[in-house]
Amino acid sequence: MPNAFISGTGGYVPDTVVTNDDLISRFGIDTSDEWIRKRTGIEARRFAEEGLASSDLGARAAKKALARAGKALADIDMILFATLSPDMVFPGSGVYLQRAMGFAEEGNLVPCMDIRNQCSGFVYGLGTAASMVQAGVYKNVLVVGAEVHSAALDLTTEGRNVASLFGDGAGAVVVSATDEDRGVRTWSLGADGRYADALRQRVWDISRRPFIPQDADGRGIVEREMMWAQMDGKVVFKHAVEKMSLVLLQSCWKLGIAPQDIDLFCFHQANLRINEFVQQAMGIPDDKVVSNIQRYGNTTAATIPLLLAEAEEKGRLVRGMKVACVAFGSGFTWGSAIIDW
Ligand code: ACO
Repeated sequence: MPNAFISGTGGYVPDTVVTNDDLISRFGIDTSDEWIRKRTGIEARRFAEEGLASSDLGARAAKKALARAGKALADIDMILFATLSPDMVFPGSGVYLQRAMGFAEEGNLVPCMDIRNQCSGFVYGLGTAASMVQAGVYKNVLVVGAEVHSAALDLTTEGRNVASLFGDGAGAVVVSATDEDRGVRTWSLGADGRYADALRQRVWDISRRPFIPQDADGRGIVEREMMWAQMDGKVVFKHAVEKMSLVLLQSCWKLGIAPQDIDLFCFHQANLRINEFVQQAMGIPDDKVVSNIQRYGNTTAATIPLLLAEAEEKGRLVRGMKVACVAFGSGFTWGSAIIDW
């Protein structure tokens, strides 16, 4: 059985920086830099320019990941695309990424699969890719996490509890087969649908007839509550701390190691205070943790591959290190993976 290792990482963030003060000056939101920093650790986020979708950002990150892995489009056996903000309701963003990267022109009509598990999407994707590679089904799987949140944020005072948290970005990895003694060692996943409504964006309600309400002239009306994400922040916070700690321990137990044996932690970046709770509970020192929430906000499925790409670029993540990726998100869903880099 081959091992499945990450042969290349890549990240991409849009150029436009939106600081906490910009939320006030550009969008007129009644908030403050102090409120956002104190509660979340966020100082700024990136917003993509109009016209760009998640697949476009994802393609930019994926090109870097392929280059670092030394792989061509023809080498890729499957695309897994994790996102909360897909280009369209359907088809999935994976096929748009395939198109944007020119796979067909290279004669590789590679299968594409979307993963709709929000902030945990990348870890779900990594586990799926590693299983396929370890089973010998595929040699190289491209796993992408990409988000354009900015187009669907209620950038008004009414939406400030959600709008101040999220930013745009993309990250990608190539999961490849190897005979070397390294790679994804284990992963653990979980979900609790009882909390599906604690953080959701309806857009439409397929159980209704018609699924988008209509006015007397038959024109669709998108109600305010359907348009924007609804979040019970306190419930999300409490469950995030609990489940991130638990799922990290589950993966450690499977390998017979303790969190102290891990060299680098890539926690999902929803709120720096959530991660500080987990860190404290597990006794994890600051120098073993990488963060980017200060600069990018919550980039959902893109967060962990972006962290990995940046850590590698900066030389914080090198061959031989034991790395833990831990995520929690809407659903609720959660996951962890431990990788020998
Ligand atoms: N600026 C100023 N005031 C604000 C802001 C803001 N950006 N946002 C909310 N407030 C106000 C509220 O309106 C409220 O005012 P009120 O008391 O007059 O009604 C007050 O602050 C307190 O609001 P709470 O929502 O109770 O604030 P809380 O202390 O819970 O912090 C926060 C809110 C930061 C959102 C926190 O709950 C949190 O981070 N929760 C986790 C969220 C999260 O991780 N989401 C992503 C999950 S991952 C995924 O899958 C997408």
